[in-house]
Amino acid sequence: MSENQVIIFDTTLRDGEQSPGASMTREEKLRIARALEKMRVDVIEAGFAMASPGDFESVKSIAGHIKDSVICSLARALDADIDRAAEALKPANSARIHTFIATSPIHMQYKLRMTPEQVIDQAVHAVKRVRNHVEDVEFSCEDAGRSELDFLCRIIEAAINAGAKTINIPDTVGYAIPHQFSETISQLLNRIPNADKAVFSVHCHNDLGLAVANSIAAVANGARQVECTINGLGERAGNASLEEIVMAIKTRHDLLNVDTKVDTTQIVPTSRLVSSITGFSVQPNKAIVGANAFAHEAGIHQDGVLKHRETYEIMRAEDVGWNANKMVLGKHSGRNAFRARLVELGIEFESDAELAVAFGKFKELADKKHEIYDEDLQALVSDTQHSEL
Ligand code: KIV
Ligand code: ZN
Repeated sequence: MSENQVIIFDTTLRDGEQSPGASMTREEKLRIARALEKMRVDVIEAGFAMASPGDFESVKSIAGHIKDSVICSLARALDADIDRAAEALKPANSARIHTFIATSPIHMQYKLRMTPEQVIDQAVHAVKRVRNHVEDVEFSCEDAGRSELDFLCRIIEAAINAGAKTINIPDTVGYAIPHQFSETISQLLNRIPNADKAVFSVHCHNDLGLAVANSIAAVANGARQVECTINGLGERAGNASLEEIVMAIKTRHDLLNVDTKVDTTQIVPTSRLVSSITGFSVQPNKAIVGANAFAHEAGIHQDGVLKHRETYEIMRAEDVGWNANKMVLGKHSGRNAFRARLVELGIEFESDAELAVAFGKFKELADKKHEIYDEDLQALVSDTQHSEL
C-alpha cells in the first residue's frame, strides 16, 4: 500500500452501535456492511463478538458475506474475548482482531486496578494470542488521549515487537485538541524505535466537537488509518464522522497529500441507510450529508453559484451522492435565482416588467413562509398572469 493512502476503518457497527438507542439487528448490520463494502471502506469493525450472542452472530454473518473489505472484531486483552472474536471471524476472507487495554493513569488505577507493568504484560500476551489466530492484529491504547507519552512509547514498542501491525491511538473521551494530538502522533512516530513496522491509527471521540479536526491533524502528522462512523454515530457525542474525514482528505489534497479508496458517491445513500435503520435523523446543517449541506438561499450566494459554482461551493454535491446542489427560494433569494427556477419549471415571462411584478409577490410571500416550493411559485405566477389579463 502506498504511504500516501489513508486506511478508512469504519466502526459504525461497533462504536456507532454503542450510541444509546442505536442497536441494530443482524440483518440491519449486514445491510449496512454491504453499503460500506460498496463504498470501498478498507476495514469494517463488525462488532464486539464477546459482547453478546447477537453480536457474535452479526460478526460471523458479516464475515461470511462481505469479501472486499477486511472484517474486524473488537476484543478486550483477554484470552476468552480474543478466542471468541477469532471464532466469529472464521468465515472471513480477510480478518482482523482489534484488541485493547487502557493506558491512562486514571483507567489503570481505578478501572483496571493494575500497575503499568502488569498492563504492558497483558497487552503483549494479548497481541501474541491474537497472532495465534490471525496475522492482522490491531492494538489500541484505550484513553491514549490522557495517557503519558513515555508510557505510550513503552507499551507500543512492546506491542509491535509482539506482532501488532496496526497501533491505534484513541482519544476515548474526546479530550484532545488538534495541535496537541498531532504532536502526540509525531512524538510517537519519532520516538518509538520500531514505529515503522506498524500503521499508526487514530480513533477520536467528539465530546468537544473536535473528533474530525483531531483526526485530520493526526493524518497531517503521519497517522495512516482513521477510525470513524457514518454520520458521526457513536458513544456519547459520537465518533469522528466518516463523510467529513473522507471529504476533508479529498478536498484538501493540496495540503494533506493523502488519499483514500472510498467511492464518495456512496456517502449520501449510506448516510440515509444508517439514519433510517437507527432512527437517528441527520441535522439539516450537518456537513456533507445534511439536507442543507449544498443548499443556497442567500441571493448573493445564489447569484454567485449560478455564474460559477465554485464561488460558494468547495465540493460538488454529485461527488458525495446528492442529485445536485439546491437553490432554496426564500426571503434572501435574488431575482436571478428566482428567474432560473422559473425557467427550470418551464415558465417564462414575456417582459421584464412582468417578471418584476412576480418577483415582488414572491418577496411578500417569502416574508411569511420559510421556504418557497415549486407549487408556491406556480400558484404565484398563474396569479400574476391572470391578474394582468
Ligand atoms: O474509544 C475507544 O477507546 C474505543 C477503543 C475500544 C478503541 O472505542
Ligand atoms: Zn471509541
